[in-house]
Amino acid sequence: MSDHTYTPSSKFGKWFNDRLPLLSLSAHFREYPTPKNLNYWWTFGAILTFCLVAQIATGIVLAMHYVAHADLAFDSIEHIMRDVNYGWLLRYLHSNGSSMFFLAVYVHIFRSLFYGSHKSPREIIWILGVLIYILMMATAFMGYVLPWGQMSFWAATVITNLFTAIPLIGESITTWFWGGYAVDNPTLNRFYSLHYLVPFLILGLVILHIWALHVPGNNNPTGIEIKQPSKGTIPFHPHITIKDLFALLVFLIIFLGFVFFSPDVLGHPDNYIPANPMVTPYHIVPEWYLLPFYAILRSVPDKLGGVVLLFASLLILLALPWLDRSKVRSAVFRPIYKQFFWLFVIDILVLGYMGAMPAEGTYLLIARIGTAYYFLHFLIILPFVSLVEKTDPLPASISEPVLTEKDKSDVSE
Ligand code: HEM
Repeated sequence: MSDHTYTPSSKFGKWFNDRLPLLSLSAHFREYPTPKNLNYWWTFGAILTFCLVAQIATGIVLAMHYVAHADLAFDSIEHIMRDVNYGWLLRYLHSNGSSMFFLAVYVHIFRSLFYGSHKSPREIIWILGVLIYILMMATAFMGYVLPWGQMSFWAATVITNLFTAIPLIGESITTWFWGGYAVDNPTLNRFYSLHYLVPFLILGLVILHIWALHVPGNNNPTGIEIKQPSKGTIPFHPHITIKDLFALLVFLIIFLGFVFFSPDVLGHPDNYIPANPMVTPYHIVPEWYLLPFYAILRSVPDKLGGVVLLFASLLILLALPWLDRSKVRSAVFRPIYKQFFWLFVIDILVLGYMGAMPAEGTYLLIARIGTAYYFLHFLIILPFVSLVEKTDPLPASISEPVLTEKDKSDVSE
């Protein structure tokens, strides 16, 4: 964190701040020098912070009424929906909130990929982000099991069964996970416990993520370093706070649009049927935001192979800052990378669609091609493009792209 020479005006403030410099910290946040050319894609960090806090707040109240028992969980959700005051609202905020959280995180991740925010010196911010994302997936998966509907039960069965594929110890590990010989009450209980715990780990990682961000400061759409902070940056407050709040408002309109007008459209109707271990649903699918990875998992006929690919597809993200070696960060100045960036976006969308389709025939073939392309993108395309690409000339400063010839002679940042 930048060294700060803030002195509180009151005597008590000074006494307190000398012992615990919270006031200095808040001054640091207010004054944090932010590049003046950040666009709206940079508001998603704030939106994500809001999502995390909202999920924790609604989750804590839901937990007051939810019963983590295989015989009672489904009914306790119905009780929340029908009897608890505004229980329906809390539940819909939480379930749709999860979708909105992932929507925001995908925008945030693709923003980083486009503008090269994952590159030096921001590798640790990126790595913490990837860890947050993996924990988000685990939390969402465990949360989906809690209503103990058909999809909850069968998703838990399919995914936990994957661990049986681990050679030698797979069976024992899975039995240990389950707390028995099948997905049952002990499984539900531990999922509930972890679903409550992990968001607080995410919160801890988010604090580190923002701390790591405040060391080098933000990247920006040009991807170039700011040479003269006094000219290239503006204080976070009020400039960025008001912009983040505006973006959050627009985001909330969309979010509440789902909550009030179409609260079940993102979920699966089968989850309104109580879990029944004797009846397998025709088609087991996860929530939309996990679909691309579900497609990767099912793209290999071998269970172990699928699990390995799934983990590899996530872990490869950790190595990204070292796979993409280009010194130029922003795709704005990388004509070839820019094309591959969009191809990668299309690949993820195609994989998502294939994840929702049965793993057979043409669907499976396309999912396989999509999976191969996913790895090709990281392991071959990115290193190769960063070697051979001729990048466009970078502006001399972050202001240059928006300055007229006359301005340029007046301003140098
Ligand atoms: C709970 C989830 C997350 C929260 C609350 C969060 C929060 C933030 C905030 C507040 C910022 C600064 C503002 C901005 O750039 O939008 C930021 C920046 C960043 N985040 Fe996240 N983040 C989360 C998840 C992720 C994930 C999953 C990744 C990547 C896998 C990631 C990668 C980054 C990077 C690389 C930056 C630097 C941005 C730049 O300056 O260009 N974040 N994050």
